[in-house]
Parts: sequence; C-alpha cells; structure tokens
Amino acid sequence: MAFAGPVLLKRIPDDPAKRKLINIDEYMATGGYESLRKAQAMTPEQIIQLVIDSNLRGRGGAGFPCGSKWKFLPKDLHPRYLAVNFDESEPGTFKDRYLTEYDPQVLLEGIAIAAFANRITTSYIYIRGEYHLQAKILEKALEEAYAKGIFGQKIPGTEIVHNCYVHRGAGAYICGEETGLLESLEGKRGWPRIKPPFPAIAGAFAKPTIINNVETLACLPYIIEYGADWFKSMGTASSAGPKLFGVSGLVHKPGVYEEELGIKMSTLIEKYAGGIKGGKYRAAIPGGVSMGVLGTDQYDAELDFDIGKKYNVLGLGTAGVIVMTDKTDLVVMLRNIVRFFAHESCGQCTPCREGTAWMHKMLNRIVAGYGKPRDFDLLMEVGLSMGSMPGTTICGLADGANWAVRTFLEKFPEDFKARLKSDHVQGVTLDAQAAAAV
Ligand SMILES: Cc1cc2nc3c(=O)[nH]c(=O)nc-3n(C[C@H](O)[C@H](O)[C@H](O)COP(=O)(O)O)c2cc1C
Ligand code: SF4
Repeated sequence: MAFAGPVLLKRIPDDPAKRKLINIDEYMATGGYESLRKAQAMTPEQIIQLVIDSNLRGRGGAGFPCGSKWKFLPKDLHPRYLAVNFDESEPGTFKDRYLTEYDPQVLLEGIAIAAFANRITTSYIYIRGEYHLQAKILEKALEEAYAKGIFGQKIPGTEIVHNCYVHRGAGAYICGEETGLLESLEGKRGWPRIKPPFPAIAGAFAKPTIINNVETLACLPYIIEYGADWFKSMGTASSAGPKLFGVSGLVHKPGVYEEELGIKMSTLIEKYAGGIKGGKYRAAIPGGVSMGVLGTDQYDAELDFDIGKKYNVLGLGTAGVIVMTDKTDLVVMLRNIVRFFAHESCGQCTPCREGTAWMHKMLNRIVAGYGKPRDFDLLMEVGLSMGSMPGTTICGLADGANWAVRTFLEKFPEDFKARLKSDHVQGVTLDAQAAAAV
C-alpha cells in the first residue's frame, strides 16, 4: 500500500501559521485516548503480541523490535520502570521535538499503553537539557492527563499505581545512550554501563526497565487503533510503518516530514523538502552523524532499516537527513562532526577518548592546510581501531565516530587527499607548523 497520508503528524498542519499546541480536550475530540481504552480491554499478552506482530522497530537509532524488547522483562519482578528517551541530541535530529511540541498527548497515550501492557509503576520522560520549551509543554500536558485520570491511578486489574514524571537532562549527548540515560536519571554522571546486565533485567535503580524512544511510543496508539496488518501495510518487509524524517542542510524547506519507511531519499528531498538549495547534490547523512555518509551515487537510497548493508553506512539511525552539495566543504564538515564526538565522548574508554581527540586534531590540521599524506591512512586506522572490534568500547559513540570518518574517507577520498601536502613546506617541518595550527 502506498503511504496514504500522515499518521503521527495527522494533527499537525503542514502550514506553520496554522500549527498550535493541541490540548487534551482537542486531542480527545479527535479520538485521543480511545486506543488506551481499547488496550485496557485487552490482556497485556495480547498487546505485546500485537506490537510484535506489527513489526514496530525502535525509532531511537538502533531499530530494535519493540515488542521483543518488552518480552525481555522478567516475569513477576516488580517494580518495573519505563524510561522514555527524549534526549534527542544526535546532530540533524529534531523529530521528537517537533512531534511533542504540538501533539504531546500522543506520547503520553503511548506511555500509558506501554505501562498497561508491561505493568509499569513509574515512567520517566528523560528530556534533553536544552529542550526548555518542550519540557514545559510536557509538564503542562502531563498535568492535563493527570487531571483526566490517565496517570496516578491504579492500572486496571492491578494494584499498581502508574505515575509519570518529566526528568530534565543537563545537555550531554551521551545521556541519550540508554544506560548513560539511566545513570543520569539516578542522579549520577551519565556514564554508559557495561552490559550485561541489560536494562530489562537491571535498569533504573537496578529494577527491570524498558527504554523506548518518543516516536516508538507515539506509534502505539495507532497500532492499537488500526492493527498490526495496517501498520505493516506501510514500509518494507523488514521496516514497517510510517516514519518521521528530519531534513536539514542544503534544501529549500528543512523540516520534519512523515512518509513510509523505504522512501527514496531523493523523493524525500524533492517532494517534501523543496529540493536541493545552492548547488548540486553531493552527499547526505542518512540518520544523524553517527551513521556515516551516503555518496553522490546514492541519492536514491531507500531509507529503511536495511540501508546499512545496501549502502555502506551504519544504519538508518534517527532518520535525520543532512544534505550537502558541491558547495559544501566535506573536509570541514567531517572536522565539525568529529569535534562533536571528541567533545561528547564521556572518556571512560581509551579508544574513544583518545581516538576522537586524535582524529579531531588531525582534521584540524588538514583544514588548516598542514595535513600530511600519511594522515589519510592514519585517520582511517584510528577510526577502525575505535569501531571494528566489538567489545573495545562500552557504548556505540566510538563506532558512530568511526563510521562517520571511514565513510567520508572511503566515499570522498579526493576531497581529503587534495588537502594533504608533503611533509615539508617552505623549509619548515610540518610538525612545527601543525603544532601551531591546532
Ligand atoms: C551515543 C548514543 C546516543 C543515543 N542517543 C539517543 C537519543 O538521543 N534518543 C534515543 O531515543 N535513542 C538514542 N540512542 C539509542 C538508545 O541507546 C536506545 O537504543 C533507544 O533509546 C531505544 O529506544 P527504541 O528501541 O525505542 O529506539 C543513542 C545511542 C547511542 C549509542
Ligand atoms: S565509547 Fe566513548 S562515549 Fe561510550 S562509554 Fe566509552 S568513552 Fe564513553
């Protein structure tokens, strides 16, 4: 079935002038919370099976099947928690912010459904520190939902009282990594944990915890309302459903657009984002900077969870597409990306802490015009050493940095090689010049 129109964004008008925050009465007047009522008439097992059947995969970056994750919760071990991942710090990603800024109740309904299905005592919405406005919007929306008895009541058929809180982060990218998030939620430094134990077994406060992204949870009311087959009628065999795509960079209309998974990137750019701006398409990041880069001949890449295998990138990630043209300086672009990783590395693992910093220094040197021919292989080697051997680092940040560096070098080698000079310039050794440059 072709994509018949917005699902997650159905209450948010395309015209920015007409967009407004939807309160709970307006939400309910358009069918809001009907799905929760429908879910409450089902058994938890039926809901979990429905989510498994729908093939809903996590929208936070890794694409892990949502229902299977819920099934990891140990039977009869309580209390259980839900941590909603609203950290959204991956550069190029602003879909959760956009959805929640206008339609916060759809997230809250998704949370209430997940809590009913999994017998959750407490849900924490962990929101990125910089999202001041969105935190206020959520707090207000939560107040409205409490007033209607959505939260703070016994989950029907149990003695479990379900409460929901907004918990604000302090602005660290690493707190989006699920175990970094849990540490931060517990009031500690947001250092990712070594796994196992996985959060489903010992998560927040050492209790069984589900961690789901905002958009993943926002899909639940629609799956309950229309069913698993309807959800699977959109997207591809491995990547079901509608998806929010953030498009930024050199396009005429940057923004968040909804389409089915598997849409071609070229269609997304031309049909929705107003086409390429100021130049010819050259490269694009498919889903946040950790995913690596798509090349010039990959403009028609299908944006689904199989993208990694097909196009030599890490994956679909957050589906935050960043578009670059023949006017973009790709060397500076990669330097900026690596600067981000070096700044955000939490520093626990040597390959990540040192590797991101070295790569940043090398790229600074290249941008300043003092790159050496051997820097190309050295960058590749440092990148690979951070990402190619599973188990060398605690979390995925290091591998994200590796994919960014490796794919820029593999797909655009000439841009980098053209900036690398010989070891001596004007009689001064390059090391001395480079030292001055970085
Ligand atoms: C460095 C790093 C940053 C991450 N940042 C986020 C984030 O901001 N939001 C998010 O939902 N997931 C993020 N993730 C993925 C989470 O660890 C986790 O997979 C996700 O929240 C699970 O939810 P989902 O299954 O609904 O996608 C990040 C992962 C890594 C390694
Ligand atoms: S890989 Fe990097 S960000 Fe992740 S835990 Fe290790 S040092 Fe921290």
